[in-house]
Amino acid sequence: MTLTTQIQDAARKALLNVAGPVAAEAVLTHRRLSLGSEASEVVRVSARFAGRRGKPQTITFVVKHLQGRTRREATIYRDLVATHASAIAPRLLDVQDGQAASFLVVEAINQAMAWPWQYLDLTAVLLRQLGQFHVETMQSMLPLTDWDYEGELAVSAAETLARLEHFRYYEDLRPLARHARMLDRVVSNLARLRGALLDESTFNQRPIHGDLHPGNAMVRRGIDRRPVMIDWGRTRPGSPLEDVSSMLQSLRFFEPSALQRHDLLLKEYLTGLGRDRRIDDATRGAYWVAGASNALAGALNVHLLTVMDASRNPRQRRRAFLVARDWLRVIRRAHAWAF
Ligand SMILES: Nc1ncnc2c1ncn2[C@@H]1O[C@H](COP(=O)(O)OP(=O)(O)OP(=O)(O)O)[C@@H](O)[C@H]1O
Ligand SMILES: [Mg+2]
Repeated sequence: MTLTTQIQDAARKALLNVAGPVAAEAVLTHRRLSLGSEASEVVRVSARFAGRRGKPQTITFVVKHLQGRTRREATIYRDLVATHASAIAPRLLDVQDGQAASFLVVEAINQAMAWPWQYLDLTAVLLRQLGQFHVETMQSMLPLTDWDYEGELAVSAAETLARLEHFRYYEDLRPLARHARMLDRVVSNLARLRGALLDESTFNQRPIHGDLHPGNAMVRRGIDRRPVMIDWGRTRPGSPLEDVSSMLQSLRFFEPSALQRHDLLLKEYLTGLGRDRRIDDATRGAYWVAGASNALAGALNVHLLTVMDASRNPRQRRRAFLVARDWLRVIRRAHAWAF
């Protein structure tokens, strides 16, 4: 059976749950949304069928074909998202586990607009919802022990440092390389800094989304334009501030207005979490350590690689240089707070 047939099959089974026996006669069309970065494939499937009194009806699903380590998203969806985040994620319709792969079927979100983050009020609602989600996940019993994130982070941090140190040999890259000593200090102390972050009394440790950026959030069309978060494959235990800084730091590159209202958005998050809106020193410090962790988990390395990549055009390399410099600034803030 081809993958397309399997995906259509998965959608038809989900349709049977949602609409009943009419599913058998439904006409399915599909469109591939993305071949995910890892072993997943995402497809939008529309099912047309005769509804009540023969009236034509269409239901659209998103089917994720998950293999290898991406299969964890099916478990996470079933045991965490559907129970603790149902209001802020596409509705779970079905999970089908096969021997080699899982099919995750969720509601297809009709977006209100392609780039909602130009509207501060929508970004603010997203941040508030994120806080509420983190309150919820505090009660989750899902162990999430299948992924050694801390181990991978340590490896990625060492690689990032090695790459930056190498920049010393290139005249035009020295402005970045001059941060290498500071970076070395943060990387050498990363385990301790992470320990302090995860023990931080206000935020401590709980399941987090783990990959929150503007591309993994959407705003639902309709009168009640609610943000939703998608792509839960990197959910793991962590500091909730890792989600917050991941969203706010990636927004700053694309949406300068969000950068200007950075603290307001952080306060919206604190409100969602049920905390005082005051950003005290401990919160600020933990926030920068969370940001530095995100930078060292790959965000910085990706841009350092692009800076060095001769196949990229000068404009792309220049942009990567500037973004890398910005990430180094985030790490410098964590450094200033920690030492
Ligand atoms: N429920 C949904 N409703 C509408 N669109 C969706 C939905 N889920 C995913 N998409 C679209 O498909 C894209 C890829 O989905 P997702 O982010 O879940 O997969 P991924 O494997 O992580 O892919 P990528 O590496 O591209 O992020 C999303 O960026 C989004 O445009
Ligand atoms: Mg994604």
